[in-house]
Amino acid sequence: MVTIHLVNLRKTFGDVIATDDVNMDLEEGKLTTLLGPSGCGKTTLLRLIAGFYIPDRGRIFFDDRDVTEIPPNKRKTGMCFQNYALWPHMTVFDNISYGLKMKRMNGMKYTPAAIANRVEKVIDLVHMQGLANRTPHQLSGGQQQRVALARALVIEPDVLLLDEPLSNLDAKLRHEMREEIMRIQKELSITTVYVTHDQNEALSISDMVAVMDKGYIQQYASPKEIYARPQTIFVADFIGKCTFIDAEITSLGEYMKARLPDGQVVSGRSPLEGYPFQVGERVRCAVRPEDLQTERTDPTDNEIMGVANEVVYLGSNLEIHFKVGDIDAVSLLPPDAPASKGDKIRLFAPRANVMVLPLGGVDALRKIPGHPLYSQPAAVSSSAA
Ligand SMILES: Nc1ncnc2c1ncn2[C@@H]1O[C@H](COP(=O)(O)OP(=O)(O)OP(=O)(O)O)[C@@H](O)[C@H]1O
Ligand SMILES: [Mg+2]
Repeated sequence: MVTIHLVNLRKTFGDVIATDDVNMDLEEGKLTTLLGPSGCGKTTLLRLIAGFYIPDRGRIFFDDRDVTEIPPNKRKTGMCFQNYALWPHMTVFDNISYGLKMKRMNGMKYTPAAIANRVEKVIDLVHMQGLANRTPHQLSGGQQQRVALARALVIEPDVLLLDEPLSNLDAKLRHEMREEIMRIQKELSITTVYVTHDQNEALSISDMVAVMDKGYIQQYASPKEIYARPQTIFVADFIGKCTFIDAEITSLGEYMKARLPDGQVVSGRSPLEGYPFQVGERVRCAVRPEDLQTERTDPTDNEIMGVANEVVYLGSNLEIHFKVGDIDAVSLLPPDAPASKGDKIRLFAPRANVMVLPLGGVDALRKIPGHPLYSQPAAVSSSAA
């Protein structure tokens, strides 16, 4: 098993900063996802780990071994591409065994018997028994994905790299294959990096999630932590739903007070430890729908008045969209909650669940001592460096 250390990585293509200031340790045997919108640098980071790109600066270590300039075939990584990249004229067996045939062990080629043995094992592992002689066009999308996975695993890699492996599959198959990947990953305890732009997929499959935007890691934490304590406005918005309200800080402390544009004052807490908030600073308050309820649970709860403009019945819940002044807000209530369109409703938000976030995204993180981005050059000037 291998722990991957990414130290201060940057990769540019001409003027484009594909990824920058990446500092992460990906723990051995864990599944880490790189999650973010199209173009945020996920594939670039994965390809740096695989060795298909060399970084402009920074180092990559597999345990203590510096692999930054080591070619892909010497890194013991297995990679699965988004489009499977199977050879259409080859059988399942030949597709899977190709990598082994190319590979020499101690200067010797694998014997045909050793190859057959290994291929049979991974075919079992991905549940493709009996299909070894088919060619890819005789397989379903899910089966082709299993072959691609088997091909990545047959070389017994230390690190498994998966780039949006399920994006070509329909919803049901995607779910099924997601479970399969988790099963295989746990069975082999293989350090895995999984690229996706699907939030639900990332939350359900990962030990750790790195949320990326515009080339930067915005947060690297467990799925629970990412949802409950988003560190930037981008993360709060990208993972799950939130109501955002701009405000200005009027007092500091564990619970800060902030004034909304209509003069109401709310009390909230920042999920961002160590950030130097200041009185008078403009911030954004974020509240999850399930944290806006019709019952008061504590005298310190914030009270917010709004007008319901849409009530959506979701079976297990009611989703109420409402206006607080000019702001669109959303609340998730029990299915029997008395709420109809046009109602004036009073909602309560515990002050621990009103998340106060600084404006400025990644640049705000740079102000936090001990943060992986602390005192790195500012995002704007790094493009000129
Ligand atoms: N070979 C390249 N040459 C020039 N620019 C590139 C190259 N590869 C990536 N880029 C640019 O780098 C940025 C990051 O691209 P990357 O492929 O890593 O994004 P991604 O997060 O994988 O996106 P997607 O979800 O669409 O696959 C983008 O702006 C992209 O246009
Ligand atoms: Mg990509």
